[in-house]
Amino acid sequence: MAEKKRLRNLRSKDDSYRIPSGCCIDSILGGGLETKVITQIYGPPGSGKTNFCMQAAVSAAAQGRKVVYVDTEAGHSFERLRQIAGDGYEDVLRSCIVFEPLSFDDQSFILKNLGRVLDDTFGLIVLDSAVSLYRLARDDETASQVNRELSAQMAMLSAVARKNNLAAVITNQVYPLDGDIEPVGGSILKYWSKAIVELTRKNGRREAILRRHRSMEENARVAFAIDGEGIRDGR
Ligand SMILES: Nc1ncnc2c1ncn2[C@@H]1O[C@H](COP(=O)(O)OP(=O)(O)OP(=O)(O)O)[C@@H](O)[C@H]1O
Ligand SMILES: [Mg+2]
Repeated sequence: MAEKKRLRNLRSKDDSYRIPSGCCIDSILGGGLETKVITQIYGPPGSGKTNFCMQAAVSAAAQGRKVVYVDTEAGHSFERLRQIAGDGYEDVLRSCIVFEPLSFDDQSFILKNLGRVLDDTFGLIVLDSAVSLYRLARDDETASQVNRELSAQMAMLSAVARKNNLAAVITNQVYPLDGDIEPVGGSILKYWSKAIVELTRKNGRREAILRRHRSMEENARVAFAIDGEGIRDGR
């Protein structure tokens, strides 16, 4: 009987849904962030990654879903969140658990223990950024160990997203390569991200480009702008 129950629990369920980010980038994502998978947002500094994450957190909270927000670059985040959330700021704070890891080791500890805070009231986990503490921890000597740790973190994030039917969004930085840019984290983050969005900014014009998706047209793009209240349609 125990085997029968275990098999039943392992059967695939069509219960995934989308958490809207509440901005125009949803249009290329088919409505928002898919639950059960990791969505990666990458782009250069100032391209809007954190704005997007905050907007998604505000949107999830407005739908009555709780959020885990892992902020590795704690700075003026609460100030910006207050601007984006507007009158809903207190509600967003009540709906969010914000963690501020100070080291890559802290980041691993938080991700490993997410199961202790999550329940079915949560809809979104944000990891902004997945790689800033990784870059600090990584040098020639530590590279293979730190890469293994990053893979393990992504495996854990992916597992909790599946188990709890929630959306996970990570941000990634870029480095210059052959006159172009390349996301950090090599193949590791690419492997674990089922949806990937690039944010670009050229001559003051911002664009989001869908680089990978399982059910939406790849390379679809949408113009956006950033103002006091967050990401706005730029078309
Ligand atoms: N109140 C505001 N009004 C207009 N634009 C704003 C406002 N606050 C922030 N911005 C713009 O948002 C952009 C920064 O976006 P964001 O912090 O999301 O970038 P990021 O991709 O997370 O960068 P990083 O890699 O440095 O973390 C800047 O261009 C900034 O001018
Ligand atoms: Mg940022």
